[in-house]
Amino acid sequence: EKTWVRMVTAQTPTNIAVIKYWGKRDETLILPVNDSISVTLDPAHLCTTTTVAVSPSFDQDRMWLNGKEISLSGGRYQNCLREIRARACAVEDKEKGIKIAKKDWEKLHLHVASYNNFPTAAGLASSAAGFACLVFALAKLMNAKEDNSELSAIARQGSGSACRSLFGGFVKWIMGKAEDGSDSLAVQLVDEKHWDELVIIIAVVSSRQKETSSTTGMRDSVETSLLLQHRAKEVVPKRIKQMEEAIKNRDFGSFAQLSCADSNQFHAVCLDTCPPIFYMNDTSHRIISCVEKWNCSEGTPQVAYTFDAGPNAVLIAHNRKAATQLMQKLLFCFPPSSDADLNSYVIGDKSILK
Ligand code: PMV
Repeated sequence: EKTWVRMVTAQTPTNIAVIKYWGKRDETLILPVNDSISVTLDPAHLCTTTTVAVSPSFDQDRMWLNGKEISLSGGRYQNCLREIRARACAVEDKEKGIKIAKKDWEKLHLHVASYNNFPTAAGLASSAAGFACLVFALAKLMNAKEDNSELSAIARQGSGSACRSLFGGFVKWIMGKAEDGSDSLAVQLVDEKHWDELVIIIAVVSSRQKETSSTTGMRDSVETSLLLQHRAKEVVPKRIKQMEEAIKNRDFGSFAQLSCADSNQFHAVCLDTCPPIFYMNDTSHRIISCVEKWNCSEGTPQVAYTFDAGPNAVLIAHNRKAATQLMQKLLFCFPPSSDADLNSYVIGDKSILK
């Protein structure tokens, strides 16, 4: 009998939260304690490329990450695979002689190959791009009819922040109310063209794997941090509204003030957790001081900073001029010849400074 392989390749950029998600109210479904807002990076940089394949000759589901086989037995992969399989539709490709009935998807096996063009698990949200890309590619392979918001609710079950990578531009993850998680999904606030003068620079402080995973960190914070309770109830709901306004009006001053304050509060929650979690290091702190001093001297903010679960700085400059000045300041503070563990690169320019 003639065999066949059907393949789909997708590419998904990572996203960086400017109002952070930290804390789950349901760990299995991955339901957050607050809404969050992120910006999706340019697909040319920091992205995951995933190829998914199906063939009657495959005898089990298998996956390779950066060329190394990894296990698909974890609950997060299984949840995503199950949810997508449940939505699979018939496929017919006459040219290749492929005909898959809806019910065939239950017994067909998949092969997945995924590549990150940036360090995995270094607080650069690799799981976000990874699960978003996996779910999107599988949906195409299996001819699922769901729109990107519906797919985001599936990607969410792989990694919370992944739901926001199904859209470009600025994206809001609505926490939702439903117990089954059906209304906890991502919506696009504005597309990538709305505020295209922004320049995002990632200062790679360290590409080492982080010590505390976001799963463990969030669990400890939810169980022990009173600041997290206060943040989720009193602070974030107001900030979300203000951030949506700032983005809509391209109000960089408010955008920067809110982003920096929210990053700092997230790291304060980490310190308020028992045992305390340290994601930033001395270099991260020096970058914050450098940006704060400059913003203060200019009178109006030129650059926003935000840090996820790791020491690397995500710097969002108002425009190209501010980005150039920022690079000069970073090079002055962290000269290439010094021992400071900092490699910066400009997103949008491909110029790499080491
Ligand atoms: O989706 P996770 O489990 O990788 O958690 C991400 C948490 C932060 O990156 C720190 C914040 C966010 O909103 O992305």
